[in-house]
Order: sequence, then structure tokens, then C-alpha cells
Amino acid sequence: MTQDVQRTLILIKPDGVRRGLVGEVLRRVEAKGYTITALELRLADDELLAEHYAEHEGKPFYTPLVDFMRSGPVVVAVAQGHRVIEGFRSLAGTTDPTGAAPGTIRGDLGRDWGLKVAQNLVHGSDSPKSAAREIGLWFPGL
Ligand code: RTP
Ligand code: MG
Repeated sequence: MTQDVQRTLILIKPDGVRRGLVGEVLRRVEAKGYTITALELRLADDELLAEHYAEHEGKPFYTPLVDFMRSGPVVVAVAQGHRVIEGFRSLAGTTDPTGAAPGTIRGDLGRDWGLKVAQNLVHGSDSPKSAAREIGLWFPGL
């Protein structure tokens, strides 16, 4: 397969930071063989989150999602490697952490806590277009 070196935006959401899982998530990204090329702990503001989650505006989980995402600091990272966009989504597992496959970040470390929105530990860009947009939002100039 020819080289398709990509970059993806990874967020360790406030639940992951609160639970002390930053190292565990980054360990899995590095153990898979991807390179972390940017990394920062940050409290996201409303404007940034509205841009980041623009595709979900108007959905029932939108307000709880934004409230959750600003409930504490997030770790923002860029990872790089051949097919990393697909590869990190595979490491993360499916959106609902209760049903996510064991072996994935969400499947091993997450579950449904019965809250208004799924707290599922991580975000990963879902396409090259999303990755470019999200990296530009969180790391302008990168
Ligand atoms: P992410 O964007 O965070 O990587 O997650 P994803 O692609 O797996 O899920 P997406 O559909 O983009 O949804 C973004 C986040 O919104 C919350 N969500 N809750 N039906 C629900 O209750 C619901 N659907 C989505 C989750 O926190 C999800 O990660
Ligand atoms: Mg998504």
C-alpha cells in the first residue's frame, strides 16, 4: 500500500482528564506506532466548541455535549502517521462506550454513566476534511 501520511485531531475529553487517563490514551496512540506532533492541556471556550461541533447544532445532545466539553480541561493532540485518521477511530471504538468493543479505549475504559450525554473519553477526526478543519481550529497556524 502506498504511503498516505495523515494527521488527525485527538481530544481527551474532560472525563478522561478527570479520571487520570491521559497517559493511558497517549500510550495507546504511541504503542500503535503513531507520532504525537502537538500536545496541550486546555480549557475550551464556547466559541471554539461551537465551531468544533457545528455539525451537531440543533440535535438533542448538542447543549449537554458542549456543557460537558467545557466542564474541565481537555488534552488536545495531533497525531501523525499512515492512515492515522482511520487508525485512531479504530483505537477509540464506537460512540456508545457501553457497547464499544473490549480492546478499544472506549470499550476498555468507558461506559454509560446514565448522564445526559455519552462521556466517551476521546474524540478523533472522522475524515481528512474534518481533520484539516479541526487542526486549524484548535492549533491555528499548525
Ligand atoms: P467524537 O466526534 O467525539 O469523536 O465522537 P463520534 O464521532 O463517535 O460521535 P459523534 O456522532 O460525532 O458525536 C459527538 C459526540 O456527541 C455525543 N453524542 N451523544 N445520541 C447521543 O446521546 C449522542 N450522540 C453523540 C458523544 O459524546 C459523541 O462522542
Ligand atoms: Mg464525531
